[in-house]
Amino acid sequence: MKNKILMLLSETDGYLSGQEISNKFNVTRSAVWKNINLLRKEGYVINSGTNKGYKLVSSPNLLNQQQIIHMLKTNWIGKQLQVLDETPSTNDVIKHCGEQGCENGYVATTEQQTRGKGRLGRQWLSPYGKDICVSILLRPQIAINRVAFITLCAGLAVCKAIREYANIDAKIKWPNDVIVGNKKLCGILTEMSADMDRVEYVTVGIGINVNIEEFPQEIAHKATSVKLEAGKEINRQQLLCKVLEQFEKTYEAYIADGEAGILKEYKNLCATIGREVSAKRADGSIVGYAVDISPSGGLIIERDDTKTEISSGEVTVQGIY
Ligand code: BTN
Repeated sequence: MKNKILMLLSETDGYLSGQEISNKFNVTRSAVWKNINLLRKEGYVINSGTNKGYKLVSSPNLLNQQQIIHMLKTNWIGKQLQVLDETPSTNDVIKHCGEQGCENGYVATTEQQTRGKGRLGRQWLSPYGKDICVSILLRPQIAINRVAFITLCAGLAVCKAIREYANIDAKIKWPNDVIVGNKKLCGILTEMSADMDRVEYVTVGIGINVNIEEFPQEIAHKATSVKLEAGKEINRQQLLCKVLEQFEKTYEAYIADGEAGILKEYKNLCATIGREVSAKRADGSIVGYAVDISPSGGLIIERDDTKTEISSGEVTVQGIY
């Protein structure tokens, strides 16, 4: 009932009388009043006046499943969406869903992760209610060697969503960090479950620093947030919806038309191209200039007229982080 009343108030510009709400949901006016008070306790500011009724003035910057589903303009991503108050890692939630046979496009998001995972075994930290931690379940029918490109699609989608929503100059650090200037704004961890010749499911995990303003000392020099860059508090639900919408478009284009269509836009936003880079590989490091992205999404590094393609791993870009 509480969520139904909230949805009704969010869809209404002016005041709604207690009687109108109680008629609509076939409950007593005292039940309406109790639920309004529950919402107020959760941080919703609801004005009320005699003979006027109730009006939603503002919502807390927290995640509400019903509101997100209502706002989300996607065709299939997030049609099933789980909002958790706290969880070790949304990627692990999605992996569990993948094993249980949940559908393509299932989404899990949370206010806080207690064991958030970064790339290369690192930790991913985000304080309660400040950032976006979201994971998407995908069941692509593509060859295993084309899965890594999904991570580039995700980087491009987040970068575009942030540029459009917050009007800031976000760029991509290959393969999929989103940066502003030389600081990181978002990291993406893509994991896959496959047998020898078939992809079972893919988990795309996206972590965006949204409203965090202070970082632990070790990363303070190389991390930033959308709020710090835009100079204003960001509505997390709205940004989350933009990210999912943009990802659905980008991913669909990749599945339908392949790498080429995505790469043009990706290269335009990729801050790594043209910079001096150092890439760690099993057989040692390569230092050179990043000159291009290959048709399959690898980074092409040139040194002494020799070009080498890096398909994954750690790349340090001179001047970034
Ligand atoms: C990186 O190291 O840059 C990748 C960070 C990925 C973090 C996100 S937050 C949502 C999802 N759940 C996780 O445990 N990790 C990813």
